[in-house]
Amino acid sequence: MIRACALSSLVALLFSGAEAFAERLVTPDMIVGDTIPAPLTDTASSTEIGETVFTERDQGHCVLCHQIDDLDAEFQGNVGPDLSTVGDRLSPAQIRFRLVDLQSLMPDTVMPSYYRLHDLNQVQEQFQGQTILNAEQIEHLVAYLASRTQD
Ligand code: HEC
Repeated sequence: MIRACALSSLVALLFSGAEAFAERLVTPDMIVGDTIPAPLTDTASSTEIGETVFTERDQGHCVLCHQIDDLDAEFQGNVGPDLSTVGDRLSPAQIRFRLVDLQSLMPDTVMPSYYRLHDLNQVQEQFQGQTILNAEQIEHLVAYLASRTQD
């Protein structure tokens, strides 16, 4: 019983190691000013999936604080800025940086750092070593938000 348990946690450890390897965790050399120019994964990104990540409660749930015109969501918050035309204000590389770690730009922001591992407070043990969103989810969100322009 104990041995099976140890084995399964070893497998889980190897698996998470493999995942972290497939995703590029952000290192200082990837940051240029307030941008992260390179995608975090080579997987193709999709604006449609990005919209789902933005809306769904068990994914990004960004509608808790942000609003986007014409979005099919029951409730949208106004704690953060309206993102209906954020693609006109920010480049994809700037958007990526803000999703990864807005707190490094604005230490007092209430917006979580979605792809940061260090300095996270009050992380339950089962979630330690995990980012809030994975690299694919970040890239889908970048594609979706970059597509949000006036025309
Ligand atoms: C708890 C509230 C909250 C949540 C949840 C949240 N944000 Fe934010 N977000 C903010 C606030 C507030 C700001 C503005 C920065 C500030 O003043 O702190 C912001 C700023 C931004 C910006 C920069 C906008 C600009 O015009 O500069 C982007 C992009 C963004 N958020 C995207 C997202 C996405 C995508 C999600 C979901 C993965 C998300 N946010 C979740 C509160 C939130």
